[in-house]
Amino acid sequence: MGRPMAESQSTPEERRKRPAKRRAKAGSGDSGPAQRPKRAPRGDKQPAIVVRRIHRRDLNRVWEFLKLSFRDVNRATVEYQRPRTKRRFLETYEEEGVEQLLFTVKNEIVAYAEVTFEILGQDTWLNPRYFEKRDMRPLYIEELAVHPDYTGRGIGSFVMEQLEHLARVRGLTHLVLEVAENNENALAWYRKRSFRKLDAAIFMARSLDVPDELLPPRPLPPAPEEPTE
Ligand SMILES: CC(C)(COP(=O)(O)OP(=O)(O)OC[C@H]1O[C@@H](n2cnc3c(N)ncnc32)[C@H](O)[C@@H]1OP(=O)(O)O)[C@@H](O)C(=O)NCCC(=O)NCCS
Repeated sequence: MGRPMAESQSTPEERRKRPAKRRAKAGSGDSGPAQRPKRAPRGDKQPAIVVRRIHRRDLNRVWEFLKLSFRDVNRATVEYQRPRTKRRFLETYEEEGVEQLLFTVKNEIVAYAEVTFEILGQDTWLNPRYFEKRDMRPLYIEELAVHPDYTGRGIGSFVMEQLEHLARVRGLTHLVLEVAENNENALAWYRKRSFRKLDAAIFMARSLDVPDELLPPRPLPPAPEEPTE
């Protein structure tokens, strides 16, 4: 998942077309009075999962969270490694048209989701015409990760429900994402949630019978005999 090779280079015209980023309000820890995170009902013993928009002060913490969440996945995938670079992550925060959502339990980050409303960047693998021709208006899921200590407790499902809700509210018709084929856990998880493979590239490789660049050890010939007189 992610924007492969996508850089934040876009023309002013492109930027104008994107929906403005809804930023978390400075100092509030949430996205402003109209969108204050909902509180769990009083007297509820179970802590709640709270969703809110990212804030600038969260950036370092989220970066560390992402490195941890993808550590095992990265070991198994040939795909570009996630998260890409810290610089790129910090740039994403400044970009318009990207929603970065944090899911917290007692102020600890337990999940992160990043979505865009159009294909950003210039070198992405995705072809917007594919969707236009089919009257599809996708929400692009760029990142979705749950803290490894919190998987299997329905947090990923809550994140997905939130993204589905966001797509519906914005009049979008599909959720689109990219996942490495050998990220089997995530793949099975998406399939179970009715995601189906689109026409897309897969990485293929064939091994060649390549000789070693260095020659094998060779017996040392005996030293030449001293000439006898
Ligand atoms: C894939 C990933 C997002 C799943 O997140 P998760 O929080 O474990 O997902 P859930 O807990 O909602 O679902 C996992 C299982 O827990 C079970 N579960 C336990 N309690 C649950 C609850 N209260 N509500 C819903 N499901 C619950 C579900 O049955 C589910 O099993 P299923 O898939 O067979 O239905 C998470 O493993 C992850 O972040 N992986 C690393 C990063 C990654 O690979 N991201 C995707 C990259 S494209």
